Amino acid sequence: METKRMLTGDRPTGRLHLGHYVGSIANRVLLQHQYECYFIIADLHMLTTRPGKEEIESIAENSREMVLDYLACGIDPQKAVIYLQSAVHETYELNLIFEMLVSVPRLQRLPSLKDMARAADLSEMPFGLLGYPVLQSADILAPRAHIVPVGKDNEAHVELTREIARRFNHLYEDVFPVPDVRIGSVPTLVGTDGSAKMSKSLGNTILLSDDVKTVNKKVAGMYTDPNRIRADVPGRTEGNPVFLYHHAFNSNKAEVAELEERYRSGTVGDVEVKDRLASALNAFLDPIRERRAEFEAQSGFADEVIYNGTLRMREVAGETLSAAKKAMGLTGAWNRISRKAEQARKKREKDAGASA
Ligand code: TRP
Repeated sequence: METKRMLTGDRPTGRLHLGHYVGSIANRVLLQHQYECYFIIADLHMLTTRPGKEEIESIAENSREMVLDYLACGIDPQKAVIYLQSAVHETYELNLIFEMLVSVPRLQRLPSLKDMARAADLSEMPFGLLGYPVLQSADILAPRAHIVPVGKDNEAHVELTREIARRFNHLYEDVFPVPDVRIGSVPTLVGTDGSAKMSKSLGNTILLSDDVKTVNKKVAGMYTDPNRIRADVPGRTEGNPVFLYHHAFNSNKAEVAELEERYRSGTVGDVEVKDRLASALNAFLDPIRERRAEFEAQSGFADEVIYNGTLRMREVAGETLSAAKKAMGLTGAWNRISRKAEQARKKREKDAGASA
């Protein structure tokens, strides 16, 4: 049986943090052995809310940093196609074709788009942002992916992709598989400040590339149980970010259980719990840091990965776009016109030759 294809990816916002790791990267590292993987660096999607020149100028650097994190986490560039969306022109073409297959009210009903407009401080919805999920459908259907692993916030976009694939297949010919969504089972990682989500814009992240000193400092400043004013006051471990992180990253489960027990009974200070978390995090991050340093030392390596992946993606997307245009009859229209034009030119040349 043919290996199924999987596509997912991120907007290039730079270095990745622990939230990215638990939410998606760890899963991708596992899935790459099962599927033919495509990882998109979705810079065109970034433009839907941030079209400024400075953002565009930072795409190359941010993509490189993100890919170094992918590689450091164990994504294998021999297995996965990692590519830059804006350099695959077939994406823009498929996007336009799919725009005809979706209604404006269907897009307006998506809560994710309103959220994004609000987050980006946009008072009015840009046309391109309304089209965000259509562009995402073009990404997913360009390699004719079967599986799309995404977070809950992107689920509705994959549902729309399924509708577009079905509609296309129904109107023209069976070109696209109807892709399945895979929602990660890991709940969103809270920020170091205790807010619901670890996010660069909130400044509450621990980066996969943070060094030991930075991790120690960030952990020491973490939000814990605010009612606990002294070490002998029984504390809350539920929903406490320090313990959530212990559970997610400390491989010594016995230590975590013991600390929880002592925290609840008021026999351990926050400082000790945090020190042990910092050690656990550093132990978790050490091999990632080491691999990152190895890849960083090979100047241009990440760029080559993106370059080669993009060339490969152009081939794959090119095949899909040709198949789509052929199914629609768009290729036929152009073929008929060019054939006629060619005949006309030949006839004119012959007539001119005869009269000379
Ligand atoms: N929308 C994704 C995000 O939240 C990025 C993305 C763009 C994507 N195209 C995709 C994810 C295709 C999965 C499949 O950043």
